[in-house]
Amino acid sequence: MTARFVLSLCALTLMLGCKGTRPDAPLTGSESLHDLMESMESAAKPLFARTAGAPLTETELPTLTASANRILAINAAVKTRFASKHPATFVGHSEQLEKGSQELVAALQAKDAAATQAAVKTIDGACGACHKEFKQ
Ligand code: HEC
Repeated sequence: MTARFVLSLCALTLMLGCKGTRPDAPLTGSESLHDLMESMESAAKPLFARTAGAPLTETELPTLTASANRILAINAAVKTRFASKHPATFVGHSEQLEKGSQELVAALQAKDAAATQAAVKTIDGACGACHKEFKQ
């Protein structure tokens, strides 16, 4: 009984330990850049999954808005904690991502499908441009 309990506790610790940071877990301020980027991918998924030019539906507005706000939060952590470790162009890409995400929030508030698409394109471009320069 006790042995089984200890064993399951070990298994649980191992499982949690091995999983690392969950991409949608609250930010702790000590994530590696790798972990932040995994979260970034998870946060951006609903945006990149949209068909370009598809009309905005009421039901997807909360998801897309949450996506934009989550990207803003993760990007703020990337900028504050990792920009000083990179050449100045790094912060430029991060600011471009910030701009796209802010435009996305505004486009969603206005329920403007064309502006939403443009903002998602800016976001996608910022991810790609930074990766091209800084991701091996
Ligand atoms: C300011 C620069 C910058 C921006 C903007 C950026 N990334 Fe990254 N990303 C990186 C760097 C640098 C790495 C490599 C990190 C590493 O290997 O430690 C990376 C790695 C990744 C990875 C691979 C995970 C890993 O570390 O192996 C994913 C997935 C990813 N980014 C997704 C995104 C998405 C999605 C966006 C946009 C919403 C984005 N990133 C925006 C710099 C950026």
